[in-house]
Amino acid sequence: MGSPYTLIANAPLDRRNTFRVPARAAWLAEVYAPAVLAELLAKPEANSRSMLVLGEGSNVLFTRDFDGLVVAMTNRGIEMLADDGESVRVRARAGEDWHGLVRWSLVQGLCGLENLSLIPGTVGAAPIQNIGAYGAELSETLEAVEAFDRHANASVRLTREQCGFSYRQSIFKQQPERWIITAVELRLRRNAPLKLDYAGVREELATMGVNAPTAKDVSEAVCRLRRRKLPDPAVIGNAGSFFKNPIVSNAQAAELQAAHPGLPVFNAPDGRKLSAAWLIERCGWKGFREGGAGVSDQHALVLVNHGKATGAQIWSLAQRIRESVQEKFGIRLEPEPRII
Ligand code: EPU
Repeated sequence: MGSPYTLIANAPLDRRNTFRVPARAAWLAEVYAPAVLAELLAKPEANSRSMLVLGEGSNVLFTRDFDGLVVAMTNRGIEMLADDGESVRVRARAGEDWHGLVRWSLVQGLCGLENLSLIPGTVGAAPIQNIGAYGAELSETLEAVEAFDRHANASVRLTREQCGFSYRQSIFKQQPERWIITAVELRLRRNAPLKLDYAGVREELATMGVNAPTAKDVSEAVCRLRRRKLPDPAVIGNAGSFFKNPIVSNAQAAELQAAHPGLPVFNAPDGRKLSAAWLIERCGWKGFREGGAGVSDQHALVLVNHGKATGAQIWSLAQRIRESVQEKFGIRLEPEPRII
């Protein structure tokens, strides 16, 4: 067996971010086994430098080179830890592909992940922003996260409650220098009620000719919706939604709706969630392009790299979008990806 990690100086990151912007890391470590993390992080290349954990790079924008250590976990494997007939506890290592895990779960006849089909990225990245789509969030099926804690300099197992999940949020996102996620444990069910209420899902199932859907059908419907609505990062550089959907008070939502009829508003745990895509589209940005940086003509919330854009150019476009939404609607949009 080879070394459990590789360490490369001045490493190019162009192929390690789905925006496909040029950037370099002072050091890049590819780690095949979490057991070596303590040793790796004690080395001078890591010690006293900032650290960035990178999966597939599908939720990051590099506006400059990263003068620290990039850690990429490449440990793989999916296993069933326990099976009580009705539900199964599944453990997936961080380096697995997220959609690969979703497909595996469907082949096993398990439900819970179908609405999260086709989300780009690795399993280890999924808890960081508590990935969510089509009416489901990772936190609903996640039982625990295994991580290396740089504060304790030890591997730990965090229960769902300890992860501090909310909409696109977790302790891992709040303290990115502290945690390296090494595996995720999920509770998946053999027979769970399917989530069909998100706009478009039932319609897509009907178009498919399905009237008694299974989890596999829901997955297929979500894949079809995503392929139609979201630009494929393999074809055009992007990181999915560039801004979070803003959450405002009930009163502010009502005021905005009165002033802007048609503004989509959704229920959220602490207030009302607005559609950032709608706000951006109303400011005239959908399909906008300047040099290589642009806004997708398929979805106003997705910034794209038409080929030659730098991260700084995409970030500067994001600032302009943010200012115009602030000016027109009085709403401050928050970026969703990590900005370096
Ligand atoms: N809309 C527009 N213009 C557009 C696109 C959408 O006005 O160009 C409006 C429509 O009214 C639509 C509404 O926005 O009904 C919602 O659109 P969509 O269903 O596409 O969802 P979203 O709120 O824009 C969120 C997630 C996506 C996720 C979808 C589906 C965030 C920041 N984004 O987008 O997640 O796939 O819901 O569940 O919450 C991601 O995080 O990278 C991501 C793609």
